[in-house]
Amino acid sequence: MTHVLITGGSSGIGLEVARIYVGRGHRVSLIARGLAALDAAKVSLETEGGGQVQVAAADVADADAVQAAIRACETVFGPCDILICSAGIVAPARFEDQTAADADRQVAVNLSGSMHSVRAVYASMLARHQGRIMLVSSGAGLMGIPGYAAYCASKFALRGFAEALRSEAKPRGVVVSICFPPDTQTPQLERERAARPAEAEVIMGQVKPWKAEAVARQMVRALDQGRFEVYFGLTLLALGRLAPLVRPFVDRYFDRLIRGVQR
Ligand SMILES: NC(=O)c1ccc[n+]([C@@H]2O[C@H](COP(=O)([O-])OP(=O)(O)OC[C@H]3O[C@@H](n4cnc5c(N)ncnc54)[C@H](OP(=O)(O)O)[C@@H]3O)[C@@H](O)[C@H]2O)c1
Repeated sequence: MTHVLITGGSSGIGLEVARIYVGRGHRVSLIARGLAALDAAKVSLETEGGGQVQVAAADVADADAVQAAIRACETVFGPCDILICSAGIVAPARFEDQTAADADRQVAVNLSGSMHSVRAVYASMLARHQGRIMLVSSGAGLMGIPGYAAYCASKFALRGFAEALRSEAKPRGVVVSICFPPDTQTPQLERERAARPAEAEVIMGQVKPWKAEAVARQMVRALDQGRFEVYFGLTLLALGRLAPLVRPFVDRYFDRLIRGVQR
């Protein structure tokens, strides 16, 4: 039976992905830090019925802890067939206002946390010549957004990691994918919006946030099809595919919007 392991599976996008796989009757393991939210997610998923769910608490920024949590999950449900790295944080602030610790933490969770999670399942996937991995970047991994310097750095870097890993993994039977969600209605977005500088809101506030279910559906479809990149909407598709070409026009447009709020 397929074992799907989801970091950040207790909330938001990760939880909606879990819902789809549980509905398919798969075995689903959720990893996050907070045990109460994990347990609540397990109860809610099991109530809807379908597959089996287990949870394990770990901070993905701690390589040993995430490795131990994933091992514990694999002991019960078998080796991981599909890994979704959805655990992530964002702390919007102008660069000069953000402490080094807050900036480093976003890189540690979003980038290193994803790499630690992949490392914990990758050797077994290679040995079995099968497995699928979905990394969760962001629209902020395709364009620099004021107030998001450290977050953008972590999410852009994930793309580099994904591209290199994809090339290494593909000939050996492991499929690596990356998605770039837009603003999505989740608890993270609610928290983030309260802290978002005006220059960022004038850019990002123009797009209606997506529903987490819709983002999750596209992610799972891409995994089913073995696609490498997943874009949501035409603007992010254009940025993803044509970035160096469209970037100067986007920058000029953003600069005009930002000047408007700074007046
Ligand atoms: N919502 C958006 O607008 C949006 C847009 C683009 C990309 N994304 C990305 O999508 C992913 C999911 O975001 P979301 O909006 O669904 O957020 P969310 O609702 O806040 O869920 C985040 C999940 O990650 C877990 N998590 C956070 N830090 C962790 C850590 N250090 N170790 C382990 N688990 C951790 C959280 O649980 P605990 O706090 O209990 O650990 C929770 O389960 C993130 O990578 C985010 O950057 C979101």
